[in-house]
Amino acid sequence: MNKILYISSEAFPLIKTGGLADVAGSLPTALTKQSQDVRLLLPAYPEVLSKIRKNKKVSTTSYYNLSVEIIETRLPGSNIIVWLVDCPALFNRPGGPYTDKHGQAWHDNALRFAVFCHVAVDIALNKLLSNWQPDVVHCNDWQAGLVPALLSLHRKRPATVFTIHNLAYQGIFDQQTFVDLHLPEELWHINGLEFYGQLSFIKGGLAYADKITTVSPSYAREILQPEFGYSLDGLLNSRSKHLSGILNGIDEKHWNPGTDKYLEHKYNRRSLNKKSINKTELQQQLSLPVDASTMMIGMVSRLVQQKGLDIILQSLATLFTLPVQLVILGTGETHYELQLSEWAQRQPDQLKVVIGYNEPLAHRIEAASDVYLMPSTFEPCGLNQLYSLRYGNLPVVTPVGGLADTVTDASEENIKNDTANGFVINEQSPAALLSTIQRALTLYQQPEIWRQLQINAMSADFSWQASARRYISLYQQILEAH
Ligand code: ADP
Ligand code: GLC
Repeated sequence: MNKILYISSEAFPLIKTGGLADVAGSLPTALTKQSQDVRLLLPAYPEVLSKIRKNKKVSTTSYYNLSVEIIETRLPGSNIIVWLVDCPALFNRPGGPYTDKHGQAWHDNALRFAVFCHVAVDIALNKLLSNWQPDVVHCNDWQAGLVPALLSLHRKRPATVFTIHNLAYQGIFDQQTFVDLHLPEELWHINGLEFYGQLSFIKGGLAYADKITTVSPSYAREILQPEFGYSLDGLLNSRSKHLSGILNGIDEKHWNPGTDKYLEHKYNRRSLNKKSINKTELQQQLSLPVDASTMMIGMVSRLVQQKGLDIILQSLATLFTLPVQLVILGTGETHYELQLSEWAQRQPDQLKVVIGYNEPLAHRIEAASDVYLMPSTFEPCGLNQLYSLRYGNLPVVTPVGGLADTVTDASEENIKNDTANGFVINEQSPAALLSTIQRALTLYQQPEIWRQLQINAMSADFSWQASARRYISLYQQILEAH
């Protein structure tokens, strides 16, 4: 049994802005089922504190003259021990985990996540919670990036894994921040935390972790190219021996159309006729024309460039000449929110846009839709296409990252051999998106073929079991080399 300290800035159901939360909320359980002893480290945001019941203070410390308490609790719905970094000066404020209510990054993010990382390092070095020292410290995204860097300065230290969920977010701050945070001088160089004269948190993970993983095999290859590498492809190429991709799994209890607590009409692949009741109910709820035969396209997403919003917006005028309805739930960049809302006012019978974060509605859209829209410009893994497949809601995707690894196009050949489960757009353009949706519509009008595609989609196994096993063998590999 390995002891794993799993470090994440969000974890479902305590706090979530995107897929990282889903992973941190479900992978630890999957690892535990395969005999690993996992503890999750998370900042004590107010939303987190409001959701936990039993808890106890297990340690007190301070960094940069700010007092910090470690609170122990359990991840709701599981037995996973969670340690919360409670530093009210940094984390107890209204707003999101990374931004204020206007979407502006918190001015002290570097300090907030430096403190978070210091706590992780002290636990890793057995200085804070003296009865438990990890064998492996598993860090996620830039917020945990300083951990491998700081640990690299110690001879006796646990092994480190750094998982990239999204290379586009790097935690870049000016050089003065490096000085103000009193980070060790020896980490400031081109192969260290320095990135074109600035401080890069993510480089702490990329340069110093024993192993780097991405959340899909394709993304691990893509980030070695300039197009997807954000100027980090050089560093990543130099570490490619230690880089691999492990596909995300899904929480099969939470995302299961047969047991989903948010659905009144649950269904599975043998009762697919009930899926359309979910559609007519959503049409009623959203005041769309009620018609079970209209193809409904769904999307639940952060509204950012990554998710293909530009080609979607450019396609809308033509899309609405087709007999389809489009339902979008999301929050993100204001200009996308505004443009989509304006379109929705103009096309009330074909487009509903709900701005905001809404977990129950996200599930209902997955259950109601026939097709799921995800034409991302890049996608490290993507969870929504996996949820869609499970809900018999066929994804329309670009062939990038995890989308390429999980969606098989409904070409004639793939339909014949029963491997087709969605639609792949051959290039990032409005014309290609529209012709792919048209292709989907043609097949949608052939119910027998469509049902087979849905069954193919719903039969795939995206449970965590296999991926958790891959993480464990990676841990084992480093521990043996260590
Ligand atoms: P990313 O992490 O890049 O945002 P993923 O597909 O990996 O993309 O995961 C997104 C997760 O966030 C999914 O669980 C999705 O359902 C959820 N999500 C995104 N936006 C919303 C929203 N507005 N309301 C509810 N859930 C959302
Ligand atoms: C990131 C990526 C997404 C991935 C998620 C969880 O937010 O954008 O593709 O599924 O992390 O790993």
